[in-house]
Amino acid sequence: MTATSSAKRQILVTSALPYANGPIHLGHMLEYIQTDIWVRFQKLRGHECHYVCADDAHGTPIMLKAQQLGITPEEMIAQVNIDHQSDFKDFGVKFDNFHSTHSDENRELSEMIYNRLNDKGYISTKTIEQLFDPEKEMFLPDRFVTGDCPTCKSPDQNGDNCDNCGATYSPVDLINPRSVVSGATPVLKESEHYFFELPKFEAMLKEWTRSGSLQEEMANKLAEWFEDGLRNWDISRDAPYFGFNIPGTTDKFFYVWLDAPIGYIGSFKNLCDKNPEIDFDTFWKKDSTAELYHFIGKDIIYFHSLFWPAMLEGADLRKPTSVYAHGFVTVNGAKMSKSKGTFIKARTYLEHLNPEYLRYYYGAKLTSRIDDLDLNLEDFAQRVNSDMVGKVINIASRCAGFITKKFDGKLAPTISEQALMDEFISVQDEIADCYEKREFSKAVRQIMALADKANQYIADKEPWQLVKDESKLDEVQNVCSVGINLFKVLITYLKPIVPSLAEQVEAFLNIELTWDSVNHPLTDHSINKFKAMMQRVDMKQVEAMIEDSKDNLQPAAAAPVLDPNSPLAKDPISPEISFEDFAKIDLRVARIAKADHVKGANKLLRLELDLGGQNFQVFAGIKSAYQPEDIEGKLTVMVANLAPRKMRFGMSEGMVLAAGPGGEELWILNPDDGAQPGMRIK
Ligand code: MSP
Ligand code: ZN
Repeated sequence: MTATSSAKRQILVTSALPYANGPIHLGHMLEYIQTDIWVRFQKLRGHECHYVCADDAHGTPIMLKAQQLGITPEEMIAQVNIDHQSDFKDFGVKFDNFHSTHSDENRELSEMIYNRLNDKGYISTKTIEQLFDPEKEMFLPDRFVTGDCPTCKSPDQNGDNCDNCGATYSPVDLINPRSVVSGATPVLKESEHYFFELPKFEAMLKEWTRSGSLQEEMANKLAEWFEDGLRNWDISRDAPYFGFNIPGTTDKFFYVWLDAPIGYIGSFKNLCDKNPEIDFDTFWKKDSTAELYHFIGKDIIYFHSLFWPAMLEGADLRKPTSVYAHGFVTVNGAKMSKSKGTFIKARTYLEHLNPEYLRYYYGAKLTSRIDDLDLNLEDFAQRVNSDMVGKVINIASRCAGFITKKFDGKLAPTISEQALMDEFISVQDEIADCYEKREFSKAVRQIMALADKANQYIADKEPWQLVKDESKLDEVQNVCSVGINLFKVLITYLKPIVPSLAEQVEAFLNIELTWDSVNHPLTDHSINKFKAMMQRVDMKQVEAMIEDSKDNLQPAAAAPVLDPNSPLAKDPISPEISFEDFAKIDLRVARIAKADHVKGANKLLRLELDLGGQNFQVFAGIKSAYQPEDIEGKLTVMVANLAPRKMRFGMSEGMVLAAGPGGEELWILNPDDGAQPGMRIK
């Protein structure tokens, strides 16, 4: 299909499903912005295009992260789903549906696809040996094992490769291996696993590679993989695992990467159920003529170009029309880094900068290739300011005032500069072709070259001079009307990239900017008063965003390596609270004026705490560790503003702070003698 084809196409588009255990960052945003621009372009051209996505909610890291937070995985993924959706929405990424892989649709589809593959003999089982954490009683994925590198002996290296010498190995070869989850020494353990027989699809995959419109770099990668030989793919994981049970088993689960791409279908199914006019089978039946595109990052090509088409083929479903991979975002020339403040969360960006700046910058740099893309923040500010504010919006701001003030908001009855107008209109198909082929940077270059022409035209005509001469007012209206019409064409071309700016322009021009409207200049048409539409990027805002990103350190995705004897290993740190929450707690030094046994209570002592004049009665569970006479007269620390609680033995009006696992091993806090009852602890 070419971009100029007028036939209405049916297109289904996806972006990769973000993992539900962390926030969206500006690296992710490249993909969602790229896809969103492409989808908006297709819709602008009048095609039937559906854009679906979902959270990728299963797997070991998600299970462990929820444990670390002390909540269920379901609770965690529900919260993350809300956060992800609001980040996308605020960046103008407009999904037709955003779902979750932890959904009924996805469970049913995963079972259906698995059963079909199994029925056709594409699933086999084999017993394998794997590292197992005897304390946590779970098998350990490679990234959850650490130890000394078998080659260079450098300590604390990853489960499968060494950061120090670059060696790759199996986690079984690590010296002094440890489980990242518990610190325990892992042991080898056998278990039966389920495999998807990928090699059976080799001929089909080679054919698909040739017939599909795959990127050249991707086709080359695939050729290498075919050369290396395809292998069976391990699709099962043992309990405990957060995921879907494999049909016919109780303790085997689908590996997250099996049900993740099925999540594309699940989200689309969910969309169809809500919108009966969209027909599910039209898009997924084996001989579908609808188009299907997956936008992904370069790190997940293997899954999308080998496993996924093979699964679809084996399950009698259609294969992707194409898979489009992009490169990775670097910031200021380097990998995003938390310590440099360049690991920028989508939300942190939004707190400081207009999302359309980033959409424009990515749009201006994106190509159809898999190259990495550098977000150079100086260049970012400079480019947005000079192109969008200085060139494009400048056209309208130079012309609109005269139309409003001198002509009551009316554009001239004819286009006085038809040749220039035609020049702008004539590149429409070329620009469409750039969008279609994901050569956004090329489209933007052309649009900016036109913007230069429009500005040059206005500079040559100098309407601000003409307006001084009453006899030349018609010419002022003509020049400014041409300017506004050129501006209208440019904003229409840019609409997929900066949709919210385009919306403001639509309000200003009193029309809807459709792809076809480019061919219909506005004459004798009333426009509204021009308002500033985009501020210049101020480097101060950029710097503030970097500063905030430094403060924004996320807890590491994986649990830290802890000494198994550390109390933290058994009793992890609680979920974060805000400073405001903390500040509410009033901790005071208290003198234990009196301590008594409590009749009928085997754990409690009754304490009378003196805060320097005001006394509190507190029942404290410290009897296993202290005799009343040991502590009478001593200083300790209490929470003084805790709501009083009625207990079986009387009112308890606060709490004393103590540390330790319990029993005899319990120590009440004992501030130095210098402290005085009533002093606040800060
Ligand atoms: N959950 C998987 C995808 C499953 S698709 C069936 C996953 N999730 S992810 O959250 O790690 O990444 C989501 C997408 O963002 C991927 O396509 C990934 O390549 C992309 N990016 C993540 N970091 C990126 C950059 N720094 N730069 C550009 N894209 C990046 O992978
Ligand atoms: Zn090494």
